[in-house]
Amino acid sequence: MKHSTVVFPHWKHQEVLKGNCGECHHSRTADWKQVPYKEGMKIQECKTCHNKNHPNKKLNSVKKAMHTNCKGCHKEMKKAGKKTGPTKCTGCHKK
Ligand code: HEC
Ligand code: HEC
Ligand code: HEC
Ligand code: HEC
Repeated sequence: MKHSTVVFPHWKHQEVLKGNCGECHHSRTADWKQVPYKEGMKIQECKTCHNKNHPNKKLNSVKKAMHTNCKGCHKEMKKAGKKTGPTKCTGCHKK
């Protein structure tokens, strides 16, 4: 990830999520419907779509997309009592 202050161990996620790339990666149709990840699909940066042109106001920035995705999963897994990643700001935003 380019943002220097956010910690994101990509390889570790690929390992624990057992290659389920679709937990995070997807594509879209021309009318902004989400297309689930399929093997071999071109993977684009989140900002390609999650920018101010995105029609869903809850997802129209990289910050919103990442927070929904990252925190969302960590919170759900935590609730289910599983080992997961941080849910607090400083867990991801190191000074
Ligand atoms: C837990 C979430 C998550 C999982 C699971 C995941 N990725 Fe990623 N991946 C990301 C994030 C976040 C980025 C950075 C995207 C950005 O910079 O906008 C990324 C970036 C990438 C990139 C670089 C894209 C670019 O244009 O810079 C590739 C290629 C990639 N991932 C492939 C994969 C593959 C293949 C898998 C499955 C084996 C996978 N990822 C699983 C979250 C994930
Ligand atoms: C090619 C365009 C595109 C790319 C690239 C993309 N998204 Fe999305 N994303 C969408 C569209 C379209 C939706 C559906 C929005 C809706 O239903 O309102 C969506 C939905 C979402 C959602 C809400 C639904 C869900 O699955 O939980 C999250 C969170 C999300 N994206 C995060 C990400 C992250 C993180 C990345 C980068 C790793 C990423 N997206 C890359 C287009 C894209
Ligand atoms: C689908 C679920 C899921 C998503 C989405 C996800 N994570 Fe995680 N994350 C995990 C799990 C599971 C672990 C625990 C890995 C381990 O230590 O076994 C983890 C661990 C972490 C850790 C701690 C790693 C360590 O070395 O202790 C960080 C930091 C983290 N995630 C950041 C992120 C960020 C940033 C994103 C979004 C770009 C993200 N995660 C998206 C499931 C997820
Ligand atoms: C699970 C990891 C995670 C947690 C927890 C988290 N963030 Fe983030 N945050 C991210 C990621 C990933 C980005 C996108 C960074 C980028 O644009 O490259 C981001 C982006 C941001 C941004 C946009 C500016 C920037 O640094 O790019 C702000 C502001 C922010 N977060 C604040 C917070 C606050 C406040 C909290 C606690 C309430 C929080 N975050 C919790 C992962 C996290």
